[in-house]
Amino acid sequence: MGAGHEYAAGTAAPSGLPAARLLGRLALDDPEFEIRMREALERAEKWLQACSHDALDPRVGALTGHLAAAGGKRLRPLLVLLGAEFGDPWADGVTQAAAIAELVHIASLYHDDVMDGAATRHGVPSAHARFGERAAVLGGDWLLVRAAQLAADLGPAAVHLNAQAAGRLVAGQLRELAGPGPDEDPVTHYFHVAAGKTAALLAMSLGIGAVQAGAPAPAIAALTEYGDQLGIAFQIADDLLDLRAPAELTGKERGKDLLAGVASLPVLLAREGAGPDGSTASDSSGVEGADAELRALLAAGPVPPADLPRALDLFERSGALAETEAVMHRRLDRARTALCVLPDLPARRALLALCDYVALRTS
Ligand code: FPP
Ligand code: MG
Repeated sequence: MGAGHEYAAGTAAPSGLPAARLLGRLALDDPEFEIRMREALERAEKWLQACSHDALDPRVGALTGHLAAAGGKRLRPLLVLLGAEFGDPWADGVTQAAAIAELVHIASLYHDDVMDGAATRHGVPSAHARFGERAAVLGGDWLLVRAAQLAADLGPAAVHLNAQAAGRLVAGQLRELAGPGPDEDPVTHYFHVAAGKTAALLAMSLGIGAVQAGAPAPAIAALTEYGDQLGIAFQIADDLLDLRAPAELTGKERGKDLLAGVASLPVLLAREGAGPDGSTASDSSGVEGADAELRALLAAGPVPPADLPRALDLFERSGALAETEAVMHRRLDRARTALCVLPDLPARRALLALCDYVALRTS
């Protein structure tokens, strides 16, 4: 732990969780379902806050509870609870499973912010900015261990799902760090990374909720497949938002990934130079002209700040954005298709609405 860093007591999580607001959009005028889910989210939140703060040493509790107290969308607990709707949502362990999914997510953010040197997260200083790098790494480790302890209390299936998801997350992040292999197609590499660092935990969230609730095996498989497809679409949506959305919507500066030289899907497709129909740009007019100029800009590595407005403008006119959107929509269609085998419950309708929400956010 870095000397001189503060260890103030963690603050309470803000009331009105973003997941509860998201739920308002997904519940589709079913107040009974919405209220029941909102209450379940609040129960999960209590477990999350308790488990992320309950180290014996209060200074450690302030470190490990820092990001849980700061907020976050709580998408993963919401997915756990939606998965549980396909069995008995009141079954033992469903609430704890929702806490496990968020603990693993938060643990990964402690580590990710160290790796990215991020100064802020959820509008507050990142854990390493506040407590120092070495403490932040250990804080993330502690949260991961806490998730494992909770999973051990639930039984072998939860232990297995938790370990598998954490392993896929780390493998995805390592793959991103290493970059594509010498003979690997960069777009294929992108999908492997997204499947690990983003989709694995969404799939696990739905799966562990369904498992704890005793849902039938075909439902567990369908929900896991939905989570894998939604997760990749989610990552692509994030890539599109970086290029399109104002900072007020995302909390991140527009074009931050371009400045950092991140190989997002639109960047990879623009580098490949495929037009909306898959053709390669060759002349210097219209969409093809924008594609060619953009390719030249991106070939030089991270976009210099002075070129950012031009790069964003070129993206708007390029075929790469339309192609990226098409790829995202194909993933969302696969996610929707996976749900076909499930009964027509409010939770299924909410998962379908979540696909629409992801698509809408990026348009
Ligand atoms: C955010 O990506 C990062 C992740 C979704 C996963 C990070 C995973 C690890 C650091 C591996 C360690 C995992 C565990 C379980 C301890 P981003 O940097 O693209 O997005 P951001 O803008 O939100 O930071
Ligand atoms: Mg990051």
